Amino acid sequence: MGRLSVDLCGIELDNPVIAASGTFGYGCEFAEIYDINCLGTFSFKGTTLEPRMGNPLPRIAEGRGGMLNSVGLQNPGVDAVIAEELPRLARFFRKPVMANVSGFSVEEYAQVCEKLEAQPQVGWLEVNISCPNVHGGGMSFGTDPESAAAVTRAVRAVTAKPVIVKLSPNVTDIVSIARACEDAGADGISLINTVMAMRIDLNTRQPVLANLTGGLSGPAVFPLALRMVWQVSDAVHIPVIGLGGISSAEDVIEMMLAGACAVEVGSANLVRPTACRDIIEALPAVMDRLGIDNLKSIIGGAKA
Ligand code: SIN
Repeated sequence: MGRLSVDLCGIELDNPVIAASGTFGYGCEFAEIYDINCLGTFSFKGTTLEPRMGNPLPRIAEGRGGMLNSVGLQNPGVDAVIAEELPRLARFFRKPVMANVSGFSVEEYAQVCEKLEAQPQVGWLEVNISCPNVHGGGMSFGTDPESAAAVTRAVRAVTAKPVIVKLSPNVTDIVSIARACEDAGADGISLINTVMAMRIDLNTRQPVLANLTGGLSGPAVFPLALRMVWQVSDAVHIPVIGLGGISSAEDVIEMMLAGACAVEVGSANLVRPTACRDIIEALPAVMDRLGIDNLKSIIGGAKA
């Protein structure tokens, strides 16, 4: 157990840095750039029952301090992930991976999770009820406590693996949704997914994204994520993973002081592919400078 290690729902991570879903694929492109075994873990691309092509182009736009995406859950479908991606991943990644799951009905979430339950390399199921880019699924389950609980309960019934529910910031009261998930059997909460946003092209005078809106991520959303992590970690008794705009070792520490037991790094991977590795390597020196002996000891430390 090193000074960077943390516990996530009963599984020890060497460090709290998890590459966020949707920014790390199924790992293989990043494994060509660096040894991804240095990560705490990573959350693979949001996976659905059927393969999906995603939304029409353009589906990426830049913003000041962040970026917008409206990818629309492009993925090869859970059967291809099990048949191709996980066996490939096992060749270069020695740690449990986090499986990010999306769906368009409660039953679909449960079916995908049931298939992943049988996969030994999957350590945690991250149930994404917060994708803002699809209709009739994703975020529509994460904006109401009862729907959030229904998905959580259905998934809980088909798996013994830790269930982490990923929440949307596009709500008035995120605490009530987090509590509903905890009561329905979630083992952890991750937050925040992206913030619904848009851009308009001044030359065409039309929205930049074909889907009109997309999800904003990047440093611009960090203080918003931090505030929500603070509120949710106060209200639940299960571990909270903080994400939203983290791009430095200092951000990791700030998020943990707010109550996160681990963090996810998303958009920073798209700006600098080595971002997660760089953050992990920078942590010990930043901890020394701030007089932090080990990371476990600072979780929620700003609330003392
Ligand atoms: C997407 O595929 O549209 C992004 C995933 C998400 O925001 O949950």
